[in-house]
Amino acid sequence: MNKVFGILLVGLTAVLFNSHSIASISVEKAIQKRIEMFKSSKANIKKLKRLIRSGNTSEAVPLADFHVAWSKEMPMLFPLGSEASTSNGSDASSDIWDNPIDFKNAIKQYKLKSKELRKSLISADSVSINETFQSFTGTCKGCHKQFRN
Ligand code: HEC
Repeated sequence: MNKVFGILLVGLTAVLFNSHSIASISVEKAIQKRIEMFKSSKANIKKLKRLIRSGNTSEAVPLADFHVAWSKEMPMLFPLGSEASTSNGSDASSDIWDNPIDFKNAIKQYKLKSKELRKSLISADSVSINETFQSFTGTCKGCHKQFRN
């Protein structure tokens, strides 16, 4: 077999395997995991706020990294059938699955603003940090307004 083709095949198999294991994550597990992530996210923001206020911007960068990573993982933790029910402890609105494009967009905004916050923390410019932090937290609220019960 052609070597390049062989490498491609291995890569493709790995990708398929990976997406399969993500797709097969159970609905309950996904709900549990995302609630855990959202809780960490809230705790992270408290720390971020404190570090920004005290001017410890370089220490705050890894906290912004969390949000960039979480924004990438988030779409996988909303499998079909995981909207709020009386028994599953979730507050996820069925609007997520009725308006998937809007939901994807809300995640995209969150990712974008996390990256902007990260950039401004690295620049250590306090005006831009305050601005980006505001619009960053705005993406949490914006999504909750539409997609959380
Ligand atoms: C793209 C949409 C979206 C974004 C962005 C988003 N959230 Fe949420 N959040 C949700 C949804 C949906 C739920 C409900 C999840 C569930 O209960 O299954 C939720 C739940 C939560 C919860 C409640 C968890 C619990 O205890 O049940 C907290 C806290 C939270 N989010 C914090 C945040 C913070 C902080 C941010 C921003 C850094 C954020 N979220 C960004 C959609 C979003």
